[in-house]
Amino acid sequence: MKKGEKLIFALIGLIAVVSVVYQGWQVANVTEEDPGIPYYSTASNELSDKAGKLIRKHSCRECHKIFFLNDLTQNVPSPSLDGIGSLRTEEWLYNYFSAENPQEIIPSRLKQRFQMPSLAHLSEEDRRILAAYMASLKVEDWYLEETRKAAYEKRTGKEYQPE
Ligand code: HEC
Repeated sequence: MKKGEKLIFALIGLIAVVSVVYQGWQVANVTEEDPGIPYYSTASNELSDKAGKLIRKHSCRECHKIFFLNDLTQNVPSPSLDGIGSLRTEEWLYNYFSAENPQEIIPSRLKQRFQMPSLAHLSEEDRRILAAYMASLKVEDWYLEETRKAAYEKRTGKEYQPE
């Protein structure tokens, strides 16, 4: 090998090492700065499956965002259900789903066809499954206030004033 060739190989080697180190450093930096997705569910697979079927059957996603998805993507100003289990208790949710008129519990500012429909006609078991699953949709503490604010503003159309 000539001297010039050695130098070129050495240079290529050096560039390779530097780029690997640089990429590693970038990855480390990204994971440090980006805290990730704040929403998670504590539901068992069995509960998620049962609730998933009910959510599809009753088209909850036509209006609500649940884990980033809704059908009309933000066309209907319904509250997102991500993190709802950190804002409401299972008992509250069960009572809400059992109400003949959910607007007595949360007054609506929307036209009738966009409002939360009564789920009182569902079997008690189905209402319990939905309440248990919704209660399992949690948000990390660092995003709780943000979630509360978004829910308040969706519900009232007013700016949120923390106490
Ligand atoms: C036609 C649209 C629509 C459908 C379908 C719908 N919702 Fe709603 N939901 C709303 C709206 C709008 C609200 C806010 C209250 C209101 O305006 O009536 C709401 C409120 C809620 C709340 C209370 C949120 C809070 O801030 O505490 C929960 C929980 C909920 N819905 C769950 C569900 C579930 C579960 C389903 C499916 C079984 C469902 N919704 C189907 C429109 C809908």
